[in-house]
Amino acid sequence: MRDAVADVSLDASHLVLPLFVSSADETKPVASMPGVSQLPIEQTVQTIRDLSGRGLYQFILFGVTPPDEKDDTGTYAASPDAPVNRALSQVRDAGLDVVMYADLCFCEYTCHGHCGALCDDADLVVDNDRTIALLGETAAAQAKAGAHVVAPSGMMDGQVAAIRAGLDTAGHEHTAILSYAVKYASGFYGPFRDAGEGGMQFGDRRGYQMDYRRAREWRTELAADLDQGADMVMVKPAAAYLDIIRQVRDACSAPVAAYHVSGEFAMLHAAAERGWLDLKEAALEMTYGIRRAGADLILTYFAPDLLDWLE
Ligand code: PBG
Repeated sequence: MRDAVADVSLDASHLVLPLFVSSADETKPVASMPGVSQLPIEQTVQTIRDLSGRGLYQFILFGVTPPDEKDDTGTYAASPDAPVNRALSQVRDAGLDVVMYADLCFCEYTCHGHCGALCDDADLVVDNDRTIALLGETAAAQAKAGAHVVAPSGMMDGQVAAIRAGLDTAGHEHTAILSYAVKYASGFYGPFRDAGEGGMQFGDRRGYQMDYRRAREWRTELAADLDQGADMVMVKPAAAYLDIIRQVRDACSAPVAAYHVSGEFAMLHAAAERGWLDLKEAALEMTYGIRRAGADLILTYFAPDLLDWLE
């Protein structure tokens, strides 16, 4: 009877699994994210093949860049040789029936670790307008490699319009944009920065990501991205921002994604390892909570576990 009257659903169609693709030959576990590893290209494709056979069909790729390929502006992100682009091409060539999202940001590709090219004026940190022009070109390269959806996560102003223009000019009118529209400067991204090896060499991201004490600013960010052509929008992080997810869901008709981020994943694992809570129970409850708040899609490292748990 409880199943019959439950009014929030959760299944594989709601889940997007983030994967970290590297050019190394070996799988490298991420210490702060149990069960998550940096994967060589071939293994990335194999993982996608295996999980798609179990019903999970949405994946978002992040790149791990060797230090000698990093530069000031993140040029390598647009290279067909970059691990993300190579993996996208191989997934396409394998004919897998999946939806591939490409994270679109420069922090994993710049030597300083910021999400865009830097200004000469140190107070401003990123050069917004130079960065968005580069994002347009990089989006086209990802679409060419085989991304169905590009997902800009750098929080530059005007990035969605620049990316739409970059895609359209290159003939990728059908590539969709999932914009990280409402993304807060968060302490919960710590493990991700280990996983993607994209930590900052100096400073922080508060100049371009949102301040969590501003409870209304999401309206401005959401309106700007929808106006510029975002096809789907994201709220990030998820668990500490359920109020924001609910309000965004009610305020627009676009699909809303929520990113249950690395630190939210890590803290459940850490508590479970100590025997302080049950991982399955707590992770299911939290994921359902994100759905109940209004997320249509959830980006979560728990996706493979959820497949087992929901069986
Ligand atoms: C960077 C980016 C971050 C995440 C996704 N894209 C980190 C950041 O902004 O520092 C975090 C994801 C996670 O913590 O799981 N563009």
